Amino acid sequence: MNTNRLSETLCASLNKQMTKEAHASQIYLSYASWADSEGYEGIANFLFRHAQEERNHMMKFLEYILERGAKVKVEAIPAPPDEPSGVQDCFEKVFAQEIDNTKWIYKLVKQSFEEEDWATWHFLQWFVKEQTEEETLALNLLDKIKIAGGSKASGDSLYKIDKDLKDMPDDAELAETKTAAKP
Ligand code: FEO
Repeated sequence: MNTNRLSETLCASLNKQMTKEAHASQIYLSYASWADSEGYEGIANFLFRHAQEERNHMMKFLEYILERGAKVKVEAIPAPPDEPSGVQDCFEKVFAQEIDNTKWIYKLVKQSFEEEDWATWHFLQWFVKEQTEEETLALNLLDKIKIAGGSKASGDSLYKIDKDLKDMPDDAELAETKTAAKP
């Protein structure tokens, strides 16, 4: 009896995304280590926490593939790119990384829609929301850095940003939770 509930093509794409999430985790680990070695403890803390989030995303894909009776294929994780050149560059790279990930999530949503695999389509909606949150978070941070002076931000403002990031929540507040009274 065939207990596999995923098509061969969708299973391959989900496995690929699982590795992409692991790669994202490595990127955050690398940037966090860079931040720590530059003395930005708060930024490092924020990025280390995010590395863990990406690892959780990887596990969600792995568990979903297993849950649907299909085969998990654990593959090599590519090396992260070069270290950032500064705080602004770091968060520009984080933002670009999240946009790229969103693109792959959307491709998966499209594929599941075309295959009329509604279980997978439903599973992926969590990631659609998560990507909006992650892009919003990165964008909010870039705004903060811009106000602080961008690549020319002073030591004082970078100190403040670093301090803020240590306690910053991992999730951004999305538009759908806002109201006229609480914009
Ligand atoms: Fe798993 Fe940051 O996307």
